[in-house]
Amino acid sequence: MQRFYIETVGCQMNVLDSELAYSGLVQSGLVPTTDRYNADVILFNTCSVRQHAEDKIYSALGRLKYWKMLKPYGVLGVIGCMAQKDQQTIFQRAPHVDLVLGPGQLELLPETVHQLLDEKLQRNYSGQMLESGRKLLVSLKRLEHRHSEVVDSFRLFDPVRHSESRTNRFQAMVRVMFGCDKFCTYCIVPSVRGPEQSRPPREILDEIRGLVSQGVVDATLIGQTVNSYRYRENGKTTRLSDLLYHASEIEGLKRISFVTNYPRGMDDELLQAVRDLPKVSKHLHIPAQSGSDSVLHRMKRNYTSAEYRELVDRIHATIPNVSMTCDLIVGFCGETDEEFRKTVELVEYCRFKNSFIFKYSERPNTKSAELYPDNIPESVKKTRNNLLLEIQDKISLERNHLFIGKTVEILVEGMSKQLGDKRVQLSGRTWCDRIVVFESADDRLVGQFLKLKIYDAAPFTLFGKTLN
Ligand code: SAH
Ligand code: SF4
Ligand code: F3S
Repeated sequence: MQRFYIETVGCQMNVLDSELAYSGLVQSGLVPTTDRYNADVILFNTCSVRQHAEDKIYSALGRLKYWKMLKPYGVLGVIGCMAQKDQQTIFQRAPHVDLVLGPGQLELLPETVHQLLDEKLQRNYSGQMLESGRKLLVSLKRLEHRHSEVVDSFRLFDPVRHSESRTNRFQAMVRVMFGCDKFCTYCIVPSVRGPEQSRPPREILDEIRGLVSQGVVDATLIGQTVNSYRYRENGKTTRLSDLLYHASEIEGLKRISFVTNYPRGMDDELLQAVRDLPKVSKHLHIPAQSGSDSVLHRMKRNYTSAEYRELVDRIHATIPNVSMTCDLIVGFCGETDEEFRKTVELVEYCRFKNSFIFKYSERPNTKSAELYPDNIPESVKKTRNNLLLEIQDKISLERNHLFIGKTVEILVEGMSKQLGDKRVQLSGRTWCDRIVVFESADDRLVGQFLKLKIYDAAPFTLFGKTLN
């Protein structure tokens, strides 16, 4: 019996890819384990979006030298975005790695892992050196090849998944599109995830039906810029709003969300679909990245701060009780105090439910790395990050306080804390994506919708009591 272990970092794309990898490996006869050192195959599903994420992976790989000495027949693999970005460099920096496989090659993972395991065993039996042949499977680099060849080299792969591969039986992510064509100047994603490719609607809806038959009630449609989803077939174009209408008709599916949105392209049809379809969650994640027009221009985001605000106004005017979340980058190349102040003003204007704030991290071979020096000192990035977080936290708390005394409906997601003497805290999310915790010992509630009365609030959490 050979065991595998997968460690995942990065965004929802990677979480989903790890689920697919898990299912593929289980189908191929390997057994999952949560004990890394007991595994025969260790895979790191990696992220390259910021330097820090990569540094952590390289040091984790370094620590596995010892494991490799104890288990020379074991397979150590790097999959995901860093595999596509660093390719051979990974073998150079961590010579005990056996496999580097990019996100466009996931379909080949199970057979490649088996080839490596078999090869090593054969070498072992024949008493030869245990140095195995390494494998590098990556997609073509953008701009170095024809567009259609690059598209073909990023193979779409979304097979039926094992329900065990997910943390929750009743929640699942469904990929609607792959890649990104926006090329924001700071971002590595278009080069590591390849060109935008939308999946055929029939395939997506069939996948959701399959998941519902496995017990899923809550589906999240994912894509790097999910609202860019477009599929043309027989002269007809299906867009994200159409997909939401179709998915809403699936019996047994109770809640639908979608991430991540690009501000341009949040058209009225999409907003109306969110408003009109009762199964669609009333929450929109739309990264602004900055509130300064000059920074947005250097980032090549293709909108101004005023246009983003107009979008926020339009969203609030269209969808009652909607909540919005945002991604923001501080300390982008050349960001002045004045430019940063514009981001503060944007946050104060938009009053997001919460924001994910990142310090700019220069990525090799991106436009910003080529055009602008990364000249904001780390200490300034840190101060701006903390200041913005503080402002956002205050807003989040104020917004959450408005829920005190109100009744909300949540989908119970799981246990949040063991309180002792059989008392357990469960948690779930509202239709506007707020986390609510409440006391209950009844774990049969997990996966069910439940009404709660809110009695207290923190910036990230509401506290509720069951009615009756
Ligand atoms: N496709 C999504 C998010 C991609 S990555 C979108 O466009 O909305 C998630 C977040 O990481 C981005 O929204 C951005 O805020 C942040 N990010 C991307 N590249 C970065 C970089 N080089 N440095 C710091 N943060 C970055
Ligand atoms: Fe990166 Fe911009 Fe694409 Fe988002 S839209 S993945 S930030 S290039
Ligand atoms: Fe990271 Fe790749 Fe996602 S770089 S953010 S895991 S698409």
